[in-house]
Amino acid sequence: EKQIQIAIDGPAAAGKSTAAKLVAARLSYIYIDTGAMYRSITYKAIQSGINLEDGEALGRLLAKTDITLKQGEDGQSVFLDGVDVTDEIRKDEVTNNVSAVALHGEVRRDMTIRQQQLASKGGVVMDGRDIGTSVLPNAELKIFLLAGVEERAKRRHQENMKKGFSSDLENLKREIAARDRMDMERLESPLKKAKDAIEIDTTFMTIEQVVEEIMKNVQERI
Ligand code: C5P
Repeated sequence: EKQIQIAIDGPAAAGKSTAAKLVAARLSYIYIDTGAMYRSITYKAIQSGINLEDGEALGRLLAKTDITLKQGEDGQSVFLDGVDVTDEIRKDEVTNNVSAVALHGEVRRDMTIRQQQLASKGGVVMDGRDIGTSVLPNAELKIFLLAGVEERAKRRHQENMKKGFSSDLENLKREIAARDRMDMERLESPLKKAKDAIEIDTTFMTIEQVVEEIMKNVQERI
């Protein structure tokens, strides 16, 4: 059986990581959450008091930063310079600043090289915003996952409540829309469907249906 690269892109909270993890598990592929990498450098920049508009300073910081994704039994953990930041990088302060960090060319170029190295090891499912368009332009399968902003905010809200986090639906809707806008409007590798990507609108689909749809496309390619 052929080992392929699977790129999964789309707007915030469209279910990319949930679907990507399940597909990777079914295939025994590695799963790479590129959003976690951008979140990690954002967290470090905030902690270090770096001006998030200063792309050069962010690039210098990233150059001396180690970001490691570790696959554990209960999901993936993210280590920043050896410290587990899995929970910290999901907090609002990071979520609401990550798009401002991710727009800098200095940051994107460094991240792209890291991600290409991680993907060179064989069967891989990588999720993000620019995987099919920029990081893995030759991926055998490209998926573009989307869903209405209302539905995405609702899913994230339910997730938050399950975890016992405070959550406000209207606020979430605004934050998700703002992040999408920044990700689509940036100059360097913006969020955009690759020409050869298969679009899946998950608004009225269950996660199982999304995984089945992706797996159907995988089967045609391996
Ligand atoms: O996927 P997640 O929501 O964790 O991504 C957080 C942010 O990281 C995105 O909103 C985007 O600004 C940035 N990102 C990116 N390119 C990627 C993955 C994430 O610019 N490949």
